Amino acid sequence: MKRKIIFATGNEHKMTEIRQILGDLGWEIQSMREAGIAVNIVEDGATFEENALIKAKAVAACCDDIVLADDSGLEIDYLNKEPGIYSSRYAGEDTSYDIKNQMLLDRLRGVPREQRTARFVCAVAAVVPGQEPMVVRGTIEGYIGETPAGENGFGYDPIFYVEDLNCSTAQLSPEEKNARSHRGNALRLMREKLKKIC
Ligand code: IMP
Repeated sequence: MKRKIIFATGNEHKMTEIRQILGDLGWEIQSMREAGIAVNIVEDGATFEENALIKAKAVAACCDDIVLADDSGLEIDYLNKEPGIYSSRYAGEDTSYDIKNQMLLDRLRGVPREQRTARFVCAVAAVVPGQEPMVVRGTIEGYIGETPAGENGFGYDPIFYVEDLNCSTAQLSPEEKNARSHRGNALRLMREKLKKIC
């Protein structure tokens, strides 16, 4: 029987990345919407890991399938790791990323390169029927550039520059981004855990 994973997100950009990275499991991967699951989830955890577990458990309560969820965000060291777990809510949920990115660039104006360090963080949680919930973390280190660059990706990608490439994650192809991204790293760790127990 073909196994099915339901990924607890409504973000289509994330689903594209997830399908590419978990594709080699050969399992069917559905978003919550595709699985017909609508549940209001209050992300009130204090860490990426807690929020990922909250989402995975809430969706797992609605089905008998393997459920994965992620929680991710951008930590800027100079801003005491803001926006962190509030990344999607930073400056208001409905504010465009052009504006959110410009606000962060304004807060970093005049800050030298060595103090602009940042990272994307992603926690991926899994609830597998009959098993203890699991959670892993992936990161990608970089810095906040002086100006936005690139058209690919989403969210904070245009202002997040990869340490050793000196280009933003919005300038990488999807394959290049997945190969080194926080979400790619966390999903690959989770993929190996799932292969062992399923
Ligand atoms: P989540 O859906 O609660 O995990 O919110 C994650 C938020 O963090 C997104 O809405 C983006 O603002 C930001 N974020 C996470 N991963 C990325 C990425 O790969 N590129 C750009 N922004 C990201």
